[in-house]
Amino acid sequence: MNLDYIIPDPWSIIEEGYDPTHVKASESLFSIGNGAMGQRANFEEQYSGPTFQGSYIAGVYYPDKTRVGWWKNGYPEYFAKVLNAPNWIGINVFVNDEALDLNACELVEGFRRELNMKEGWLQRSFIATMKSGLKISVKSTRFLSLKRDELGVVKFEVTPLNGDASIVYQPYLDSGITNEDTNWDDQFWDTMSVSQEGDQAFIQAKTMKTDFYTCTYMQSQVYINDDKQKLQAQTNKHATNISFVYKLSVSEGQTASIEKFGGYTVDRNHNKYELVAAAQSVLKEAISDGYEALLKEQIEAWSQIWDMADISIAGDVKAQQGIRFNIFHLNQTYLGTDARLNIGPKGFTGEKYGGSTYWDTEAYCIPFYMATKDQSVARSLLEYRYNHLQKAIENAEKLGFKNGAALYPMVTMNGEECHNEWEITFEEIHRNGAIAFAIFNYHRYTGDYSYIPEKGLEVLIGIARFWHQRATFSTDKNQYVILGVTGPNEYENNVNNNWYTNYIAKWCISYAVENINKVQEAYSTDYTRVMHKAKLSKAEIKEWLEVAENMYFPYSEKHHVYLQQDGFLDKELVTVKDLDKSQRPINQKWSWDRILRSPYIKQADTLQGFYFFEDQFSTEDLARHFDFYEPFTVHESSLSPCVHSIQAAKLDRMDQAYTFYLRTSRLDLDDYNHEVHEGLHITSMAGTWMSIVEGFGGMRVKNDTLSFEPKIPEQWEGYSFKVNFRHQILKVNASKGHTHFELEGDHDLEILVNGKPVTITPNKLVTV
Ligand code: BGC
Repeated sequence: MNLDYIIPDPWSIIEEGYDPTHVKASESLFSIGNGAMGQRANFEEQYSGPTFQGSYIAGVYYPDKTRVGWWKNGYPEYFAKVLNAPNWIGINVFVNDEALDLNACELVEGFRRELNMKEGWLQRSFIATMKSGLKISVKSTRFLSLKRDELGVVKFEVTPLNGDASIVYQPYLDSGITNEDTNWDDQFWDTMSVSQEGDQAFIQAKTMKTDFYTCTYMQSQVYINDDKQKLQAQTNKHATNISFVYKLSVSEGQTASIEKFGGYTVDRNHNKYELVAAAQSVLKEAISDGYEALLKEQIEAWSQIWDMADISIAGDVKAQQGIRFNIFHLNQTYLGTDARLNIGPKGFTGEKYGGSTYWDTEAYCIPFYMATKDQSVARSLLEYRYNHLQKAIENAEKLGFKNGAALYPMVTMNGEECHNEWEITFEEIHRNGAIAFAIFNYHRYTGDYSYIPEKGLEVLIGIARFWHQRATFSTDKNQYVILGVTGPNEYENNVNNNWYTNYIAKWCISYAVENINKVQEAYSTDYTRVMHKAKLSKAEIKEWLEVAENMYFPYSEKHHVYLQQDGFLDKELVTVKDLDKSQRPINQKWSWDRILRSPYIKQADTLQGFYFFEDQFSTEDLARHFDFYEPFTVHESSLSPCVHSIQAAKLDRMDQAYTFYLRTSRLDLDDYNHEVHEGLHITSMAGTWMSIVEGFGGMRVKNDTLSFEPKIPEQWEGYSFKVNFRHQILKVNASKGHTHFELEGDHDLEILVNGKPVTITPNKLVTV
């Protein structure tokens, strides 16, 4: 473990003591967001030490021209970057004319930072000794309103402790912003206007190339103690920056404070020429309601989220903090209120992964949103892909596929593939499988079949067509093979017959055909419409089935396991436990050549297939494959430990399941992968949720019935969670020896507990 400075607490993330080497990591860990925007926990005041500035607006990106050594046909033209957006949180602070800068103060004492997850606010406090010898006590509080998702609020307070002081607050907006990860040092923002009306300021800026129009705005109020000061602020206006200067004189012990209201209005929600007016109306309401009322509203909004989504763990505060941290960040990133948005692997906490949509959404996030929100949220995540079907067909055409074959992008902002790595990422065509699997998973969990005839079937047809065309008939094997792919394990590139890919390809075709038949029987109008639109014939379906039924799967008779890919056994099979710890993480210590030759597995690959298609294998099969592959797995993808935790729990290996649970839930808090300063791993956080609900709780849906096999790690006294199952809410409370079930709903629910049927009547506690 790299970092271990976050103080265990059930509801808050807390850092005590100022350590400049932690600043960037903390900026990630203490990030805040509200689904529509988010930001790293950068200080409001000037900071001259190492920092990684980041403020992001959902859905606003820049197509950064692809940069590669050797251009290969088929490369996407650009890599979509989530943009570091104009800064609205900034407040320069001067104390007796000296700039407040934690990196330059004589002394910083009592530094404390808290991200209160229960109530959704971030706070920082400290006592600074300025160069002049003046000591000041400082407190700043910040939140991004969940209810008004264009609004953020900062309150900054300074109290001189050993003398009188003049305090100058200079709140500003700044659109002269760049990304750290730009390919060509492009300018991303075109600032169109910087304006002021009274004590309100606005910067209208649009993104280059993509033309997203935004307005960044602010308005502030200053106070001495609780008395609002009517001050005429001085204005400084520049090409990409505007600030107001408020001067306050306070005596020793008095508090000079500023409340700053700011944020973004964007053309996704408003006419692009009316963004200033939209910002003004947000400000008007915010100022009239006031800081305290907004904070109260924020606390209530989070309490509603927690009421449904919380998981409580008794007897293990670090595990508790871990799961709440994960649930909190998932809700900060995506709330399901806007179907045009999706869940970026780093959410609003860093630049890496471009803020784009990956297979992570379908493979990892949908179960969390399905069970903790209204089922319409998961449905709109599916619709996001439906809306991109035409683009997926075009993506496939660019690679030479035809006839409506669809290849969904591995990385996307608008349906177009936008990643510039060929072997890793681009060759991961397995992503197509996860998109089909999510449709199956949604129907299995919600029972809502209507999605398939209305929309899902067209997606399944495009995907089945792709697999049919992508497979090659091997005359040598007399079977179909899939060549030149990268499986989920990105530490193997350009392999032949990745078992997971072949398996999911076969499954996708069978599932598509099964649903074509179902829709034909029960939804004839949709059937006619879809078949006509897709120009699909029975003869073509027959050809798909020929591929599916004759797919090749690499298998080892010696080990009785499916092989991750052809040739896996040619490797030098030294397990991870025999690998020197100083060599890890291998992706930071080894050359790519060495990684590719090694047997080390980045994340569940064959086991990912066993996770998705659990019912198609016996527990013995799972145990054999787990025992074969896990010892070679380095879990250097955040998506790895959760799947292993679920499988270890299923195999009754609770110690191992618990170790993987801690690793997934505290991956960022304890910085297992040595990269938290770059941002958080948001999508794997949904995997953490799965490792409790599906792993320890053993929750599955079988034949329309919820089933549980509750188990408890020795370290815990118990745990509880709620799931929304088909419009009723079931609370599961497991402790050693028994599990309580309670239902909020209007009719009995039949469930299975350890394979036995149990009836749960609304509002009656049932103990098993
Ligand atoms: C993983 C991929 C994942 C991506 C984004 C990579 O490290 O290997 O499976 O899609 O991160 O989370």
